[in-house]
Amino acid sequence: MAYKLIDLTRDGGVATIQLDRPKALNALNTEMMGEVANALATLEADDSVGCVVLTGSEKAFAAGADIKEMSDNNYLSIYKNDTFEENHCAIERFRKPIIAAVAGYALGGGCEIAMMCDFIIAADNAKFGQPEINLGVMPGIGGTQRLMRAVGKAKAMDMCLTGRMMPAEEAERAGLVSRIVKLDDLMSTAKEAAAKIASQSQPVAMITKETVNAGFNMTLEQGIRFERRLFQSLFTTQDQKEGMAAFIEKRKPHFKNK
Ligand code: HXC
Repeated sequence: MAYKLIDLTRDGGVATIQLDRPKALNALNTEMMGEVANALATLEADDSVGCVVLTGSEKAFAAGADIKEMSDNNYLSIYKNDTFEENHCAIERFRKPIIAAVAGYALGGGCEIAMMCDFIIAADNAKFGQPEINLGVMPGIGGTQRLMRAVGKAKAMDMCLTGRMMPAEEAERAGLVSRIVKLDDLMSTAKEAAAKIASQSQPVAMITKETVNAGFNMTLEQGIRFERRLFQSLFTTQDQKEGMAAFIEKRKPHFKNK
């Protein structure tokens, strides 16, 4: 499929999806999110891809759902048209590791899709926000829930109720982003992290991701049991044999994804 509103590139085991609708600050419309969902399905099926980076422009990761597209909806039209939500959820359903590389605005749906990724690397000019309340609505694709889990109730309430933007430094302190880098270093840092992940055993990386995410919906005891069983199951893989043998033999492992 040829894409109009995203740019999909690959470098070794790393694929990069760049949102590319600069005049609208990467506002997320149905067409763009359809392309993102299509690209992710392609990358999930491609065994040569081990990690994905999702990014935008230097000014905007994404300034939210497209307000102009959304504004004429009524309850039933937005309820019945679940394509939009389905396409966003392609990010949360994606089974391989995916990193959000965020520069500039990550607002509303933009902040929400960044939080659907496994972790966020932010440029020093990044600004996060859930300003939907200014439009007479509220976050609609997980913002209230993911933000609260990421930064705690006080900051989530503050952001969702006042609509204020959270600068990168505060976002790092609060645990929303894993690291901040200079704007010029954003893509090289994100791609380097992605290449490191892609060099690992792909099934082990996928199972690790699944295990961390599973913990959000489990008690601590259930989560620990889930982890233990999956940890034990990894001893059936050739990659476990290779990883441990390489350590003992003081060499680099060559994982076969088996
Ligand atoms: C549609 C948008 C947009 C958006 C920006 N644009 N954000 N179009 N939807 N979310 C468009 C503007 O209309 C304008 O187009 C162009 O992008 C540049 O924007 P400006 O406002 O002129 O830029 P600037 O002054 O630099 O301000 C940047 C900004 C501001 C602070 C990010 O654009 C802004 O507040 N945007 C809206 C942010 C927001 O409310 N997001 C939440 C959306 S609701 P023209 O044609 O005039 O040049 C949401 C719900 C999620 O996300 C739930 C989904 C189910």
